[in-house]
Amino acid sequence: MLEPGNRVILISGASRGIGLAIAEHLHELGYRLSLGLRAPAAGCPLPGAPAERVHRARFDAEDPATHHAWIEAAARHFGRIDALVNNAGIHHAMTLRDPDFDALDRLWSVNCKAPLNLIQGALPYLEASGAGRIVNIASLSGKRVRNDAVAYNMTKHAMIALNHAARRIAWEQGVRSTAICPSFVRTDMTAGAAFPADQMTDPADLARIVGTVLALPNHAVMAEVLVNCRLEDTL
Ligand SMILES: NC(=O)c1ccc[n+]([C@@H]2O[C@H](COP(=O)([O-])OP(=O)(O)OC[C@H]3O[C@@H](n4cnc5c(N)ncnc54)[C@H](OP(=O)(O)O)[C@@H]3O)[C@@H](O)[C@H]2O)c1
Repeated sequence: MLEPGNRVILISGASRGIGLAIAEHLHELGYRLSLGLRAPAAGCPLPGAPAERVHRARFDAEDPATHHAWIEAAARHFGRIDALVNNAGIHHAMTLRDPDFDALDRLWSVNCKAPLNLIQGALPYLEASGAGRIVNIASLSGKRVRNDAVAYNMTKHAMIALNHAARRIAWEQGVRSTAICPSFVRTDMTAGAAFPADQMTDPADLARIVGTVLALPNHAVMAEVLVNCRLEDTL
């Protein structure tokens, strides 16, 4: 297993929900973190964490100028990058009967284009690590279609394709990529969902899965991790 040691992990969208749970867990494990946030106000999240452990930078998935700027700021701060967690994401209920192309464009920008651009920017550092890791917080909505939210489902299927592209691109350099595919997780995103909140996956449990994925060595790799809170055929 890989030890946290001085490994540096970048997490997008760590202000709340799954991203915050991942940040808290990885901080507890001893990793050094760079958090990509739309509003990187000092002290939040992980208030009180020293600068040698936690770096915060502005990252807005809809502002491409912030993508590589965050990567480079993190590399300057810590001198290395060992993993990127593409977590920031948005949902929209748009269906085929009521298309909203502005919403579709936003979903592509946040859920697909920004993760792709972050992977591209981080790749030289992940290769230099020798055990670079990419974790893409996708969804079971990227594995099957069970509802009418066509735009969200399309972007999460695309994220699975992005994940497999990332698995291929630098295997020889030790870079490994894993898609985490949850169904309902108890966060703001699912606050209005017609499913009991107390039966949803706890973000802290997803964070522990990410911790395991990051610790696995180069020759024990999970390409996809499917995480369900209910019974579905084969998932
Ligand atoms: N919750 C679920 O059931 C579920 C299931 C499967 C997959 N997922 C995926 O898990 C990831 C996290 O979701 P969540 O449930 O934690 O959602 P959430 O509670 O709504 O949090 C979303 C996070 O993404 C950030 N974000 C949104 N738009 C952004 C932008 N333009 N630039 C930068 N950051 C942005 C938010 O930052 P702000 O605080 O600045 O808004 C926040 O940190 C998403 O990719 C989502 O698709 C969630």
